[in-house]
Amino acid sequence: MVVKIKRQIGSGLSLLAKLGLLLITLLLVIAAILLLVFLLPRHHRAPLPPGSPPPGNGSNPDDSVVAFDFSPFLIQYKSGRIYRMDGTDRVRAGVDEATGVTSKDVVIDRGTGLGARMYLPPAAGGEKKDLGAALPVLVFYHGGAFVIESAFTPKYHDYLNKVTAKARVLAVSVDYRLAPEHPLPTAYDDSWQALNWVARNARSGPEPWLQDRGNITRLFLAGDSAGGNIAHNMAMRAGREGGLEGGGRRRRYEQTWSFICNGKYGIDDPLVDPLSMPASEWRKMACSRVAVTVSDLDDFMERGKAYAVALRDSGWSGQVEQYDRRREPRLLPRQALEPQVRQGASFRRRLPQPGVADSSLHKFNYSCSFRLVIPGRIAKLP
Ligand SMILES: *[C@@H]1O[C@H](CO)[C@@H](O)[C@H](O)[C@H]1NC(C)=O
Ligand SMILES: *[C@@H]1O[C@H](CO)[C@@H](O)[C@H](O)[C@H]1NC(C)=O
Ligand SMILES: *[C@@H]1O[C@H](CO)[C@@H](O)[C@H](O)[C@H]1NC(C)=O
Repeated sequence: MVVKIKRQIGSGLSLLAKLGLLLITLLLVIAAILLLVFLLPRHHRAPLPPGSPPPGNGSNPDDSVVAFDFSPFLIQYKSGRIYRMDGTDRVRAGVDEATGVTSKDVVIDRGTGLGARMYLPPAAGGEKKDLGAALPVLVFYHGGAFVIESAFTPKYHDYLNKVTAKARVLAVSVDYRLAPEHPLPTAYDDSWQALNWVARNARSGPEPWLQDRGNITRLFLAGDSAGGNIAHNMAMRAGREGGLEGGGRRRRYEQTWSFICNGKYGIDDPLVDPLSMPASEWRKMACSRVAVTVSDLDDFMERGKAYAVALRDSGWSGQVEQYDRRREPRLLPRQALEPQVRQGASFRRRLPQPGVADSSLHKFNYSCSFRLVIPGRIAKLP
């Protein structure tokens, strides 16, 4: 093309026309080069960040070769170095002057560093009169494309202060770990762990704000952008897994139960979950008295109680007694789960003596004492 143009230039055009043609040719060449540059895959292109990324330290040339350009969020260099373009500022927790909201940082998992910032609104009317009322709990997940921002940036800190004051909620802003250092599902798993931590602490502590001020029956999930995605996925997961906490536990039980019975029975089979039996089945229980011992330090306490209630309500002709063990400071949780010797002795005295052998089971007074393992049903949070 250039040769052809040159020939045309040679065939008696005016100097001005020649210059004009040359200029157009040059422009076309430049445009072609630019086009080529932009058509090349992004990672071959030098970074064009809004701020200037800190240069590599010189000893590693790959430190300034862009591996993935995720502007305007971050740039990952070939050396693995990550430059976050936004959302790295931190502000301290404390008392927010504009709203009177108090915030503090908590560690949820020391192993992974998972944490959260919690927010408590000021007492209504400046008085301590509402200290008795439990606050709805808001679990918040920040946005930032899963790769930037944190619970501690000014943007989210200010927002949470305002929401906490206006909505009068106890807010927990989760600081889940970010990709690409921690690719998904880390953010989902951290968020799930944090949500369960909130529910557990609101029920029984020891986190004092949640325990004393949180009303977990009024639980709200919220988030913006990537955080909205997380909030949706947490609600889905809670539904799929039968409620908070239940999921992981139920999965564990499913695995161990399946291991024990070689997959023969489901986890909701009456063999392992008597609560799934109809009353007509309960009434076939072949003994006259049943003692159920439960402990508040036992994970299965609620199920033990439910067992006693189901048996009693079934119309079974026998007698059910429930023994409650209270937390005893000198008892380790494990010991508290064992049958209590003292109580056992008095209980034995009250039981009928082993019956005289009889050909009929029903004339024989069996005495049963159960420690229950009923992992099937896990109550949903309201
Ligand atoms: C420079 O970068 C390399 C690899 O990226 C790292 O091993 C080295 O410690 C860095 N040196 C300084 C002084 O930061
Ligand atoms: C928690 O919220 C529920 C539902 O609104 C309400 O019935 C209950 O009284 C609240 N509990 C406390 C301690 O405020
Ligand atoms: C079995 O126990 C019940 C309740 O304690 C009692 O009323 C009944 O007489 C006992 N029957 C026998 C055969 O010991």
